[in-house]
Amino acid sequence: MTERTAGNNPNLTWTPKGSEIAREAGARLREFFAEGVETEYKGDVDLVTVADRTVEKLIRMRLVEAFPEHGIYGEEGTRERLDREFRWYVDPLDGTTNFAHGFPQFCVSMGLEKRGAGLTEEQDGTLVAAVIYDPMRDELFEAERGKGATVNGKAIAVSKTATLAEALVATGFPSRKRHQNPNIHFYHEITLRSHGVRRAGSAALDLAYVAAGRLDGFWEFNLNSWDTAAGVLLVEEAGGRVSNFAGGPFRLNSEETLVSNGLIHGELVEIFEDLFAGRDLTPLPSPRRTGNQGTREPGNKKAGFGKTDE
Ligand code: IPD
Ligand code: CA
Ligand code: CA
Repeated sequence: MTERTAGNNPNLTWTPKGSEIAREAGARLREFFAEGVETEYKGDVDLVTVADRTVEKLIRMRLVEAFPEHGIYGEEGTRERLDREFRWYVDPLDGTTNFAHGFPQFCVSMGLEKRGAGLTEEQDGTLVAAVIYDPMRDELFEAERGKGATVNGKAIAVSKTATLAEALVATGFPSRKRHQNPNIHFYHEITLRSHGVRRAGSAALDLAYVAAGRLDGFWEFNLNSWDTAAGVLLVEEAGGRVSNFAGGPFRLNSEETLVSNGLIHGELVEIFEDLFAGRDLTPLPSPRRTGNQGTREPGNKKAGFGKTDE
């Protein structure tokens, strides 16, 4: 990795201040995490904690001080100056379910979009700056368009893994309306065709990990702009590819996020094409043991579900 410290790089416009804000927000999350937080439900099983709301308020206040002309679009309800040229997409706590259970995988995510005059709400501008901060590992991921991506000031690049069979990839599942989400089928197929699929519970960190070459790819259905805005710019600036499931242009509101190191992108797009068309599904194996290992028949002491032949 090449040394490049964001704090002393005069070419960076927004990330020095954005990162200061994300670090302060992350420090607050660390405190809440240590204390334990009260949890409430937005609806169904969509958790929200005091931490989500308090930290969004803090980020909002700091962004207004630093960039009074910028708009802000936050997961916990902040909608301000959305007619402006610049707009921050803020997820104050990505990985709330992890956070609420004491599972230390979550982050602050802030992505900045530049919107040309006359864009409608359905049209995207250009993502120009990204900050993702993991307060538990003290890792700060930053990028500005055309200027590369870094973690704690050191340049990062996507992996060189050439095939899906050798790739470690990640995905996620929504907490709401899970029965309406087809991802379990994709999870099943890609688990069988890759080196492994992780489901760690923070989409923004998954995206940052693709940028850092720790994961070779990531996909998820129905993410929101606050989950993806920062992470997709990090992946692009680290040399990766970002698209919808058909390999076409990624849109912040497209509800299809597919990113990779570029090399395995074609294979992933093909799997999506096949599965959407109902082709090429691996038949479900029997969970019963085969050969002389015994089966789960009544009276057979050796019986039980276990490893099937590989
Ligand atoms: C969630 C996380 C999770 C993803 C969900 C998101 P939240 O965000 O990113 O990894 O699978 O789809 O909603 O609710 O913790 O901010
Ligand atoms: Ca989120
Ligand atoms: Ca959140």
